[in-house]
Amino acid sequence: MRVLGIETSCDETAAAVVTDDGRVLSDVVHSQVKLHAPYGGVVPELASRDHLRNARPVIEGALERAGLGAGDLDGIAVTCRPGLSGALLVGVQAAQGLAWAADKPIVGVDHLVGHLLAVFLQHPGVESPPPPSFPFIALLASGGHTALYRVEGLDLSEVRELGATRDDAAGEAFDKVAKLLGLGYPGGPVIDRLAREGNPEAIELSRPMKRRDSLEFSFSGLKTNVMRWVNQHGRPGDDQILRDLCAAFQRRVVDTLVQKAVRAARREEVGEIVLAGGVAANRELRERSAEAAAVHGIRVVVPPFSSCTDNAAMIAYAGLSRLARGENDSGRIETTPHTALLRVTRKGPGRRGTRAS
Ligand code: KG4
Ligand code: ZN
Repeated sequence: MRVLGIETSCDETAAAVVTDDGRVLSDVVHSQVKLHAPYGGVVPELASRDHLRNARPVIEGALERAGLGAGDLDGIAVTCRPGLSGALLVGVQAAQGLAWAADKPIVGVDHLVGHLLAVFLQHPGVESPPPPSFPFIALLASGGHTALYRVEGLDLSEVRELGATRDDAAGEAFDKVAKLLGLGYPGGPVIDRLAREGNPEAIELSRPMKRRDSLEFSFSGLKTNVMRWVNQHGRPGDDQILRDLCAAFQRRVVDTLVQKAVRAARREEVGEIVLAGGVAANRELRERSAEAAAVHGIRVVVPPFSSCTDNAAMIAYAGLSRLARGENDSGRIETTPHTALLRVTRKGPGRRGTRAS
């Protein structure tokens, strides 16, 4: 099977063609980072307009690079949740239009499930680790979500949340701290780079949610801690103090993510942890998680960088199993800012066990 994936949930317009064994035939990503950088975060209205401008050339580019026409596809998968409403609508409308024109089945995909399954993608010429076997623990850490899941299979019903963040996502914390330090958007890559030259022990910051038994996260206290430090000492210039502060902040985030991922794997008696989402591109997280897990005989599966950040290949792959079963959501795809995965962690006000973003 050959499936076209389309992704426009946030600030990347992406399209890709993937085969049913996970081979990526094309993978086109148009990033809006420069557009949003002056604002220190994604501006929804600007995102929708830019998706509108780029959806068509990006989709055509993905088909062209795969050497296929729309008629050669076996189906289309499009992100319909969670994400920015206007942004999601652009991708869904484009996908729906193409599906009608080419008379192909189409399925709506949950963006988070895409991230969880990105580890199965095989990019030609890029070395990928041997894929995990089910069940595995997934640590999903992106700009909008941070959670631990037990993944039993490819379907939504086979993914169970073990714990999530009660406030900021890990990537959001990177972005907010970077904004505070005047480092631009997105914050993860620049803090990652600066932290490499810093001493994580030089500045004392609080440890986020270190309760031993919990699988939940909280990053807003750490962010406030950095803010207080800056109020007290002034914003550092481009100097060693800046590097030390980045290193201390990153060490705290990474330590928490690693400790809880290993705890989840041990508690669930699962031998593999998969890293997913944009924060999984973090060098320190990739290294420290592998070391900490190895002590307990647990393998950490780290996908290549291009599979961690937002892309459409993971969306195509996440839609494959339903398309293979002959399912078709044509004319019935609704967009929503909320994930379809059942949440067990209470975020802000609201009940446990409800479906929420
Ligand atoms: O998964 P993603 O591309 O988009 C969402 O679905 O949110 O993740 C983007 C997030 C941003 O918050 C960005 O700062 C963070 O991932 N990120 C990183 C790194 N690269 C991207 N965080 C830490 N270290 C990195 N190297
Ligand atoms: Zn994402």
